[in-house]
Amino acid sequence: MKTLSRILVLLVIVGTVTPESYEDGTSICDRCTCLIANKTSTVLSYDLLDCTRKNLQHMIGSWPERFITTDPEREIVLSLSGNNIVSLQQLPATKTTLVFSCSHCNLESLASGLFIDTVNILRADLSFNKLSGESLSGDVFRGQYNAEDGSVSLLLDELDLASNVITKLQVNAFEHIAASLRHLSLARNPLGQVTSSTRSALAQLTNLEHLDLSHCSLTDIDASAFDEMHALRELYIQGNHFTAIPQTVYQLDSLHLLHLAENPFEVLTFAQPLKQLVQLNVSSMSLMHTVEVESFQNVKQLKTLTVRNNMALEVFDLSVLRHVSFLKELDLSQSNIKHLHTPLENGAAEQQDEMAYKNTLEVLLLSGNPWHCDCALQRVLKYVQFSNLPDYDEDDETRCETPYVLTSLHLTDLTHIEVCDQPIHDGPNSPVYEKPAFLRPRAIFLSLLSVGIVVGLGIIIGLVIVCLKRRLKTQVMGFTSPVRYTSVRESKTSAVYQI
Ligand SMILES: *[C@@H]1O[C@H](CO)[C@@H](O)[C@H](O)[C@H]1NC(C)=O
Ligand SMILES: *[C@@H]1O[C@H](CO)[C@@H](O)[C@H](O)[C@H]1NC(C)=O
Repeated sequence: MKTLSRILVLLVIVGTVTPESYEDGTSICDRCTCLIANKTSTVLSYDLLDCTRKNLQHMIGSWPERFITTDPEREIVLSLSGNNIVSLQQLPATKTTLVFSCSHCNLESLASGLFIDTVNILRADLSFNKLSGESLSGDVFRGQYNAEDGSVSLLLDELDLASNVITKLQVNAFEHIAASLRHLSLARNPLGQVTSSTRSALAQLTNLEHLDLSHCSLTDIDASAFDEMHALRELYIQGNHFTAIPQTVYQLDSLHLLHLAENPFEVLTFAQPLKQLVQLNVSSMSLMHTVEVESFQNVKQLKTLTVRNNMALEVFDLSVLRHVSFLKELDLSQSNIKHLHTPLENGAAEQQDEMAYKNTLEVLLLSGNPWHCDCALQRVLKYVQFSNLPDYDEDDETRCETPYVLTSLHLTDLTHIEVCDQPIHDGPNSPVYEKPAFLRPRAIFLSLLSVGIVVGLGIIIGLVIVCLKRRLKTQVMGFTSPVRYTSVRESKTSAVYQI
C-alpha cells in the first residue's frame, strides 16, 4: 500500500515537472564527461559525470543509462560546477554513495528535499555561490522518512558552504544532518558573529570533527556555542577579528588543530587547558608582540607550532620547550625576532637551566629574522642543538643582523665562535659602542686587502712589461731578418747559418 502511494506520488511529481526544466539525462554523456570505473586494488568502483563548465542551466533529469544506480556499494561523482544554474533542483534518485559539487554555480536558492532521493549523499560542495542564510532551511537537507525513529535525517558527512553570502544561519538549518555531519565549512561568509540562531544551528552538530569559520569577519562567538562539540578535532578561525582565543574554544575537549593566524592578537596566551592540542598556527598576526610562555603549560601536547610572519614579535623565549616537551616542528621564520630568550633590564639574558631546553625538535626554522647574535643566543642555540638539526641549509637567510661585527654570520656558525667575551654593553638594551669605521676588523681587513691587491697588481704589471720587452726584442730580430733575405747572397749565408 505504501509503495503504491509512493509510486503515485512519484508519478504526480514526474507529471507536474515540465521536462525542459531539467537537462536531458539520456544524452548527457554527449555533453559531459562520463566515466565508469570498476573496482581496482586502489580505488573503489565509481561512476563519474563531470559537467564542469558545460553551459548547463538545470539539474540533470536522470542518470546516464549506463550508470549503475542500484548498487549501494558503488559511488557516483557528479560535478555541475562552473555552470550558471542559480536555482538548484532535486538530484535524480540513486542508491549509490554520492559525491556532489555545484561550486561557482551562481546558486541563490536550493530546492527543498534536495537530496531526498539520494539518501547516501556523502559530500556536497556548494561553495562560491550566492547562498544566504534564508536559502538554507532545514528542509533542504531533509532525508526520507524513517519509520523506525520517525526522523527524516540524511547521512551527509561533509558540507562545504564556503564563500557564500551567509550572515546568519537559521536555527534548524542543519537539524536533519546534525547527527551525521563531520565536516562543515562556512569560510569566507560575512557572519560577523556566532550568536543567537547561528549559535543554535552550530550547537546541534555534536559529531562535527572539522569546522572552518575562517575569514568570516568574526568578532564574537557565544560562550556556549561549542559546548556540545565533543568530537571537534580541527577548528579554523584564521583571518577574523579576534583579539584572544574565544572562551568557547576551551570547551572543545578533543581539539587537535587550531588555526588562529591573521587575527589581531597583541598577546598570545592560553587561559585554560587545551589538553589534546597538537597543532597550532599563529602566523601573520601583525600586532602580536608578546607570547606568554608560561601559559603553554595549558597546551602540553603540542607537536607543531607555526609562528611565521609576525612583524611585531621581537622575542620568542625558547624556554617554552620546558612546557611543550613533545614539540617536533617550530617555525619562527620571516618575523622580526631578535632574541630566543627574555632579555632583562640590564642587557643580560635570563639564565635558564639547560634542562629547560631539553627537546625533541626535528625542525626549527629561524630564517628571515634580524637576529641579535650574543652570548645568550649562542647558549640557547647550543642547548637546542641547532646546528645538529637536519633541516639546516647553508644558503637560507638565517643570519645575524647585530652586532655589527657579526652581521651576515649564519646562526649555525655562531656556535663555533667566541661571543661570550664581548663586553656586556654590546647587549640589546644599551646603546652599542661601535669603533670608528676605520678601526672595525672588517675595515682593517679590507684596507689590508686593497693594499695587497695594489702591490700584487704592481708586481704582475711589472712582470708583464718585462716579458713584453723580451718578446719584442726577439720579434724585432725576427721581423728584420726576412728583409735581409731579399738579397740572394745574404739569404744563402743565412741558410747556411741556419743549417
Ligand atoms: C565494469 O564491470 C561491469 C560489470 O561487472 C562490466 O559490464 C563493465 O564492462 C566493466 N567496465 C569496465 C570499464 O571495465
Ligand atoms: C599558517 O598560517 C599561515 C597564514 O594563514 C599560512 O600561510 C600557512 O600556510 C599556515 N601554515 C600551516 C603549517 O598551517
